Amino acid sequence: MGLIADRMKNVPKSFIREILKVAESPDIISFAGGLPNPSTFPVKEIEDACRYVLENDGQRALQYSSTEGYYKLREFIAKRYEQKQGLLISPDSILITSGSQQALDLIGKAIINKGDNVLMEEPGYLGAIQAFSVFEPCFKTVMMTNHGPDTDSLEKICKNGKIKLFYGVPNFQNPSGVTYSDKVRSEASKIFLEYGVAVVEDNPYGELRFMGEDIAPMRKHNPDGILLGSFSKIASPALRLGWITAPPEILDAVNTAKQAADLHTNYFSQRVLYRYLSENSIDKHIESIRALYKTQRDAMVASIEKHFPPEVRFTKPEGGMFIWMTLPEKYDSMVLFDAAIKQSVTFVPGKPFYAVGGGKNTLRLNYTSCTPDKIEEGIKRLADAFKNMAF
Ligand SMILES: Cc1ncc(COP(=O)(O)O)c(C=O)c1O
Repeated sequence: MGLIADRMKNVPKSFIREILKVAESPDIISFAGGLPNPSTFPVKEIEDACRYVLENDGQRALQYSSTEGYYKLREFIAKRYEQKQGLLISPDSILITSGSQQALDLIGKAIINKGDNVLMEEPGYLGAIQAFSVFEPCFKTVMMTNHGPDTDSLEKICKNGKIKLFYGVPNFQNPSGVTYSDKVRSEASKIFLEYGVAVVEDNPYGELRFMGEDIAPMRKHNPDGILLGSFSKIASPALRLGWITAPPEILDAVNTAKQAADLHTNYFSQRVLYRYLSENSIDKHIESIRALYKTQRDAMVASIEKHFPPEVRFTKPEGGMFIWMTLPEKYDSMVLFDAAIKQSVTFVPGKPFYAVGGGKNTLRLNYTSCTPDKIEEGIKRLADAFKNMAF
């Protein structure tokens, strides 16, 4: 009898972490990561907040705390939902998680039975595929268009498939950069309501819009939707602070799962972040991140247009951190990956983002870690590697 539990057998390893090991060499231009640009981290402000919390309430801030999370932080999140999106969400229906990644694990524990049909975007977020895989669901996928999931296919799948849960990233999706249109959000929500499909709407990038207009979350069309958020991309990922808001029955199960997992999210970190948020304008801070990422995104779009032939398609995101590239069918992005490494440039091949296979000719490019000059140079090298692939 093997030592490792059966449930771990089909959990994919994070291919990205493997790639990042290769990308560590300083002369490699890496479009592989998915990290926020560290120049945006509010280091001094967090230092001030740490000192304040320790000096003024150190003993409590270093003590165990509640599973739900720091109430004032939950209140801040609830107020922001109301101000920015017109969503009325009570702080009591928000639970602070160790990043939104933990929310995915807790949702898996609370909702997914072995063999349940779970519908994912294609391509979809690798971390969700990984988190849910532990609970041994049967993955189904719905193809993404430039405006979100294809709603005709969605209707067919939901009608025939007894889908328990849908997971999606409607704003500047990881990996594709695609944003669901308002029409797709409303049509998809109707379909989910009609067929009784629970919806998890993951939104770590929503605040990073640098062009176009904000679109209301699907939760607006479905008050029972589960909505996730994160401070990783607007403050700091190291704080490991995210949240889940869900109907009481689900939140209760998630709360129990969280008690079993880690009792509560790092309380000191919650107190420090709250102090930071109350002493500084997060809007101003987000504005500076958006401005930086727009410059980088524009540089990447312009470089791709300049160096790649028109048969190579790519998305033009209105926010977030990623561009998705589709090569002509006959190409394999794994082969391009090997060729690109020789040119000291790297990216993530698309295959791991396909929960049920496919995506051989696709790849993800991250633009938030390089200067515009490096982006231009890296895309030129990548295009050279592509043009040199023999057929
Ligand atoms: C779509 C999506 N969800 C969740 C996460 C996890 O973020 P965190 O746990 O840092 O909040 C990420 C991280 O990149 C992501 O892209």
